[in-house]
Formats: sequence, C-alpha cells, structure tokens
Amino acid sequence: MRKRIVAGNWKMNMEGVEAHTLFNALNDKNAPLDNKTVIIVSPPSIYLSEFSALKNPHIHLAAQNCSEHENGARTGDISASMLASINVDYCLVGHSERRQYYNEVDSLLKEKVDRLLDNNVSPIFCCGENLPEREQGRHFEVIQKQIENALFHLSDDEIKKITIAYEPIWAIGTGKTASAEQAQEVHAYIRSVLTEKYSSETSNQIAILYGGSCKPGNAKELFFNKDVDGGLIGGAALNFDSFSSIINAF
Ligand code: PGA
Repeated sequence: MRKRIVAGNWKMNMEGVEAHTLFNALNDKNAPLDNKTVIIVSPPSIYLSEFSALKNPHIHLAAQNCSEHENGARTGDISASMLASINVDYCLVGHSERRQYYNEVDSLLKEKVDRLLDNNVSPIFCCGENLPEREQGRHFEVIQKQIENALFHLSDDEIKKITIAYEPIWAIGTGKTASAEQAQEVHAYIRSVLTEKYSSETSNQIAILYGGSCKPGNAKELFFNKDVDGGLIGGAALNFDSFSSIINAF
C-alpha cells in the first residue's frame, strides 16, 4: 500500500513564539492525529535545526527549498547535505512560488533533486499548471513536461524515493480548489506518465499529493480518490485545528 501523507507548508509565515506553539502542539505525543498518516511539517528553514532536535517520531520535517550546489560560496543558501546532517527527511522542490518568483526552471530543479537524493533527503516534487494553461486544455502536457524534464533521468530505485505534489497554480492560496474529479483526473494521468516511463509496479509506489486550497471542508472528498494519496497544505496548515482535521480526513 502507498503511504498517505499530509504535509504542511508554512511558507514565509510564523514568527518565534507562534511557530513554536504550533510545532509543539503537533509534536505532542498525545495530539489527536491519525497515526497511519505520515505527517510532515515544512517550516521556514530557520526553525529546522531546533525542531529536528525536539521532534517526536510521528512528525517528519521538510525544508521548503535547498541549493542545487553541494556546498561552498553560495551566500544565503542551504545545502542538501546540511539538511541531512540535522535529520531533515524531505525537501520541497519546484513549488510554483519558487518557479514564479525565483525563476526556478526544470533544469535547475533536476539538479536539486539530484543533490537531495545524493544526501538521502526525499524530494517532494511540485508540478501544476497555471490558469491560462488549464483554460487552453494544456494542463496534461505542461505537467508531463515538468515531470519528464526534472525526474525522468532517475533510475527506478531513485524515482521511488520521490513524492509528487500536484498543485494547480490557480488553486494555490486563492480559495479555489480543484474538484475531486479534476484532482483524480490529473493524479491518474501523472501515475500513467510514470507507468509508461517506469512500470506500474513502480508508479503504484509513488505517493501523489494534492495541493491548492485544501481545507478541512474539502480534504475528505479529495483524499477519497484512488490516486490522491494526501495533501500539501499551505494556509490551512498554519492552525492546529485545521491542519489536524486535514490529517484526520482519510
Ligand atoms: P494553499 O497552498 O493550501 O494555501 O493553497 C498550497 C501550497 O502552496 O502548497
């Protein structure tokens, strides 16, 4: 069976006390959180080292970004080996905000994926179309290219270490959500792209998460779909009650 995963992407939110309060609530061994779901918290990198030292085994950490370079003179950057050295298990790669505001293109994302895998950190690879691409019916083609360009150089063993997050850009932070049917349709398509390149045995092991205004009110309906293995949650991950109810939505 595939892992089911709920990951909270805090983005550039949460200062000192609030960040610690939310993390402590999730990290509490007695927190009412479904223990069959892999829970990932992705705070701003400034908190990773401390949270890593505090964390209980039911919580995993993800960085929001890392450098494509191994180490060296890259002021302001964080390397995959640094993440590994403090036991960060996952790292987001290619979030649409990184693609859009920092010009991260597929060839760069491919390098980041490689650095992470070199260091045994699992990439959570984000893909998804913008509104014009959806309206022109080009979403399948766009997503396929993103996956091909950044991931298709990987071996069968390597691709199994990737989690994919389908995040339609028109649904991120907008309050608009893909319908359960739209999500399932794209997730099934992504799995078919992976099956064609690798095998169904391989593609069936890869978790595909949905992201884009996933909330307590729609999580159940989205996660109910056969190819939706969980969610990458932005806004609703900034509050214990809403994030925990999404975690418990399976
Ligand atoms: P959202 O963000 O849940 O606030 O739409 C999702 C994401 O960007 O990962």
